[in-house]
This record gives sequence, structure tokens and C-alpha cells, in this order.
Amino acid sequence: MIVLDNLSKSFGAKRVLRGVSLEVPDGQNTVMIGASGSGKSVTLKLIVGLIEPDEGAVEVDGEVVHGLDRRRLAALRGRVGYVFQFAALFDSMTVAENIRLGLVKRGHGEDVIRERIEESLAVVELSGVEDKFPAELSGGMRKRVGIARAIALKPRYILYDEPTTGLDPVTSAVMDQLMTRTRDLGVTGLVVTHDMRSAFSVGDRVAMLHEGTIRQVGSVSDIRATDDPVVRQFIEGRPGSPVPAPAWRYE
Ligand SMILES: Nc1ncnc2c1ncn2[C@@H]1O[C@H](COP(=O)(O)OP(=O)(O)OP(=O)(O)O)[C@@H](O)[C@H]1O
Ligand SMILES: [Mg+2]
Repeated sequence: MIVLDNLSKSFGAKRVLRGVSLEVPDGQNTVMIGASGSGKSVTLKLIVGLIEPDEGAVEVDGEVVHGLDRRRLAALRGRVGYVFQFAALFDSMTVAENIRLGLVKRGHGEDVIRERIEESLAVVELSGVEDKFPAELSGGMRKRVGIARAIALKPRYILYDEPTTGLDPVTSAVMDQLMTRTRDLGVTGLVVTHDMRSAFSVGDRVAMLHEGTIRQVGSVSDIRATDDPVVRQFIEGRPGSPVPAPAWRYE
């Protein structure tokens, strides 16, 4: 299980997280929603130890992430896959080479590597693109390669950062199916998104990050039925305050 315990994080004078506590139960997809800039990506980076909290702790399988030595941190990153907000593939390498990198780093032999590349691309329905370069793929295909790269390592957890942002509705639905499929394969997911359609489709639980803390956490039906005005406003996509009429007009 992943446990976030009272996490605080500031950048200069800007307090982004002000005591975030959340449990990510095994075998489920937990979705974290929140406005742009609310600290969702920062939270994911804290979980894999890419940044350090000012206060509080992240525990993965009972182990506190911050303060782990390099070897243990590498082992932890083998258990926690990370699908980056922007697919973050190496443009000068083919799809297969991109997936291969992490497998080589973990010391797998050639046979396992070839098998994992093939299997993971099959899961994301991209068999046959092994030798293509990222520039030859659409945005949605690149995102799916990002997922293939994560699942090739057979992680226990996968963190997905905005997996459906910028995708057309059909490709978004394919991404949702993939996240449900990985959950059904036994992988625990933490999905960060502001796409409510996707949140309700893949989430077993939904947590809303707002002004540096978890405003509400509950099942999809709890969140759909919420009477918290802040959460309601967010899930219904209404602007916070009336938008002022523009001062200019067309002649
Ligand atoms: N390395 C950093 N240095 C300074 N400020 C940072 C850093 N990383 C994030 N921030 C700031 O922290 C805040 C939260 O950023 P974060 O990327 O977590 O937002 P987000 O919720 O993921 O937003 P979005 O939905 O747009 O991706 C932002 O104001 C951002 O500018
Ligand atoms: Mg983000």
C-alpha cells in the first residue's frame, strides 16, 4: 500500500501541499482530481522520491521513501511505475529501445527483455510499432507507449499523470480501458486527472486535492453525490466566480 502522511511542500514562498494525507489501497484505482496547479504532479513526484517533502512522509509497502539509499530507491522505483504527464520518450530511440532501457537497468536478460517488450505492447494494442520512432506516432500512441514502458517492468503500482489530457474521446476511452485492465491484472493505480469522465470511469475511489489538502475522498458514488460545494463545482466544471463581461465589443 502507498500511504501519504501529512505531506507539505513549498517552492520558495509558494506553499503547494499543506498536509496531504491519503491511503492508496492495493488492487484498486485511486483517482486524484484537482485544478491545474493544485499540486497533483508534485504529489506523484514525491511518491517516487524525485522530490523531497518539507514535512510528512510517503510510505510504500511500509518503507519511508525519503532517506532511502540509492539501491533501495532503485528497488522502489522498480515497484512503482510512472507514466509521465508528457510521454517523455527518447526521440532518438525506437519504441522498443525506449521500453528496453528500464529492463536493461534492472538487469534482465535478452530473452526476458524481448518477451516483455512484445507483451507490454500487446497489452496497449500497439503490437508491430517496435521499430518506429516517437515522432512517427500520434499523441495517443505515444501515451500508450508510456504505459507499455511502465508495465513492462511488472510494477506493483502505476502512477498515471494526466493519461487522457489532450486525447480525442475515443482514444481517451481506450486509455480508460487500459487503466482498468492493469487494475484487473492486480496493479494498484494512482491516476491524476482533471478529466471527470475518465475519473468516474476508471476510479474505485476519488480524492480531490484543493488548496494543498485532500478536500474529500470517497467512492465514485460518494463523490458524484457530494454536497461539498467546492467538489461539486469542480466535477460539474463550473467557473468559481462569475466571469466579468469583456470591456470591449465588436462594432
Ligand atoms: N520544481 C518546481 N519548482 C518550482 N515550482 C514548482 C516545481 N514543481 C511544481 N511547482 C509549482 O507547484 C505548483 C503545482 O504544480 P503541479 O505540477 O503539481 O500542478 P498540477 O496539479 O499537476 O497541475 P496540472 O493539472 O496543470 O498538471 C505549481 O504552481 C508549480 O508552478
Ligand atoms: Mg500535472
